[in-house]
Amino acid sequence: MTRANHPRLAELLAALARREAELESDRRTIAALQAQLEETDRGLAALYADLEQARRSEARLAAIVRSSDDAMFAIGPEGRVETWNPGAERLFGHAAAEIVNRPVDVLLPAEARGRFGALLDRLRRGGRAGHFDGRLRRRDGSPVDVAVTVSAMRGPDGALTGFSAVARDLTERLRMEAELAAARAEREVLADRERIARDLHDMVVQRVFAAGLALQATAGMVRDPRVAARLHDVIAELDATIRELRVAIFDLHTAPRETASLRARILRLAADAADHLGYAPDVTVDGPIDSTVPERVAAHLLAVLREALANVARHAAATAASVTVTAGETLTLEVADNGRGIGRPARSSGLTNMRERAEALGGSFTVTGRPGGGTRLEWRVPLS
Ligand SMILES: Nc1ncnc2c1ncn2[C@@H]1O[C@H](COP(=O)(O)OP(=O)(O)O)[C@@H](O)[C@H]1O
Ligand SMILES: [Mg+2]
Repeated sequence: MTRANHPRLAELLAALARREAELESDRRTIAALQAQLEETDRGLAALYADLEQARRSEARLAAIVRSSDDAMFAIGPEGRVETWNPGAERLFGHAAAEIVNRPVDVLLPAEARGRFGALLDRLRRGGRAGHFDGRLRRRDGSPVDVAVTVSAMRGPDGALTGFSAVARDLTERLRMEAELAAARAEREVLADRERIARDLHDMVVQRVFAAGLALQATAGMVRDPRVAARLHDVIAELDATIRELRVAIFDLHTAPRETASLRARILRLAADAADHLGYAPDVTVDGPIDSTVPERVAAHLLAVLREALANVARHAAATAASVTVTAGETLTLEVADNGRGIGRPARSSGLTNMRERAEALGGSFTVTGRPGGGTRLEWRVPLS
């Protein structure tokens, strides 16, 4: 049996071959489609991963903005607030719902509008970021000093989509800077006053005092009573000058604005004296001195303490000193040292000054040698 003899069979075989060729082509099409599908799938997976990452970094960004201590907000291209973080709410007092969609001018006092508007214009024209340091306005109208960084936000095509703003509260920093500057200035003034007071006390007062003594000696020698009387007038004049100088010195020693408690001022004075003494005096403060000692008395007490410690440093050659302040019916200051003792002072402008301060307040003043050596000074004034 041959093909030729069986035309029906030959026909069938040919049909089969055609069918097979068709199937082969279908298989190729399917394979190609499958490959395409797989590629698309990979593409989709990559796209999904990208999106997921974008979503995550956006969430991270949102979390940063939300939790930031700084005020962060977005401003639309036309100048309306678009987003508002809790930091902005804390700083300016507006809740997000109140301020979103309102013009950013709400935050700007009249005098700041021009400058802020100019900054936005600069960014509109192509700037990247700029700074605005100044005073903005809170919800309740109160001013707040801030440093704001404004950045332009642009789409992929470079067109402006809005502005982001980060505002930092400068109140605390400005306050600290002002305090520092004031403290520096005050310190300079105080140092100056201290120096002038010291010069006055050490040089001027002593010289006038010495001139007075010399005149007194001369007055004893002149015969002419008119000349002697004239000399006594001059001596009296010199005494008055010394008294005035002492008042001036006392004023100079008084700090221009003292806010620390008396206890703190006593401790500070004693600590400062340690520089001259070479050792820290032992300080005891007893009784309610901060509530019972009026400022006027406190100023005298501190002046006496200052002079007493200066004397210990200059004259006593001591290795230890103690300061005791007791407040009750009377206010008592005792300064004792273990030095060479006081003997009979040749001059006494400082000691006289302390006595006068006690007497002016109706009190008393004593300086005595101590049995074991050293000097003990007691300054007492009534507290009524
Ligand atoms: N703590 C002391 N120890 C020893 N001598 C003292 C002490 N305090 C004062 N003096 C003596 O008393 C004198 C008078 O003191 P003061 O009136 O303060 O004058 P100044 O200190 O200017 O000499 C001093 O020159 C010194 O000789
Ligand atoms: Mg003295």
